[in-house]
Amino acid sequence: HNLLPHNTFGLNATAAHYIELHDVQDLPQICRLPEFHRHTVLWLGGGSNVLFRQDYSGLVVRMANRGIRCLKRAKGKVHIEAQAGEVWHDFVQHCIQAGWFGLENLSLIPGTVGASPVQNIGAYGVEVKDRIHSVQCFDLEKQEFTELSNADCQFAYRESLFKQSGKGRYVIVAVVFELDETFAPHIQYGDLAAVLQAHCGERVPTATDVAQAVCQIRQSKLPDPKQVGNVGSFFKNPIVSAEQFAQIQAAYPNAPHYPQADGMVKLAAGWLIEQCGLKGKHIGNAAVHDKQALVLVNRGACSAVDLEKLSDYVCDCVAQKFGVALHAEPNWLPER
Ligand code: EPU
Repeated sequence: HNLLPHNTFGLNATAAHYIELHDVQDLPQICRLPEFHRHTVLWLGGGSNVLFRQDYSGLVVRMANRGIRCLKRAKGKVHIEAQAGEVWHDFVQHCIQAGWFGLENLSLIPGTVGASPVQNIGAYGVEVKDRIHSVQCFDLEKQEFTELSNADCQFAYRESLFKQSGKGRYVIVAVVFELDETFAPHIQYGDLAAVLQAHCGERVPTATDVAQAVCQIRQSKLPDPKQVGNVGSFFKNPIVSAEQFAQIQAAYPNAPHYPQADGMVKLAAGWLIEQCGLKGKHIGNAAVHDKQALVLVNRGACSAVDLEKLSDYVCDCVAQKFGVALHAEPNWLPER
């Protein structure tokens, strides 16, 4: 089965076995298929966070279960359950229309609802963990459905249980969000407030305004995966000690940085890469995006080999110039 349409970077790969899951009640049955092996099955959402280094020799299950419903309303809060296969951006817009607020800043992030907790997607000062009540899973070890609370998921910046000890154990089948019935804007991040001001003037911004401003900023920097293959940010923003940051800041007083609660400092990987002069750099058809250096793009039929070379080259340059290690955000398969 061709995986090209199922990975947003557009790497050429096939899967030995492929099925689409429309009803989660079919899960126990899938686990009994001869081609099912717990450690070689890939549960795929929108494919915006995977990079195939070669053909996939196991079973790929694309999560295609749909449905959104309100489970509970109380004291100005709503609990909204969305099935894993819902398209993330469409779900966010659906919530805004329905008067369920809190996800506006996460508009236009590619991928599915079911993938959103895995790397705790985040943008413009909001992370999905701030709005997740619980995650409904199928536990492959115990062969039963189970619910993980927000705390169980061990969320951190672009991290969760699903990337760590729970990897290969839990299939995310649905996510329950706790949203507000009254809109409160979160617009402190970067130039969001300024873009919104230009958009609304003196008018008090609505959730739709915030979503539109976020879309405008994203569209100005981030390539549309339908036109140019990419996986959004290719690297995580590195978090360094206060001492290391002080050294960098002494040499580069304007280095963008975000102090963390624990005293560490998050740096902007895109800025570090741009400082190395790498915007537009390419190896074969793998290139550093010219409007956002944190994004690597497919200039056309890019090979995984060239992408790996470019990724390594970017890491080496940043390590040499700043002494900072970058880590990839998407998952290479097989792992590197
Ligand atoms: N910057 C540069 N040059 C660049 C890119 C960025 O100088 O080429 C500077 C910017 O001027 C700014 C700072 O770096 O001062 C941060 O840039 P930006 O606001 O564009 O965000 P980012 O840190 O590069 C992160 C997320 C994005 C998210 C934005 C907005 C990660 C890995 N990435 O990017 O998430 O949309 O913040 O919140 O945390 C993703 O994860 O796929 C993703 C797109």
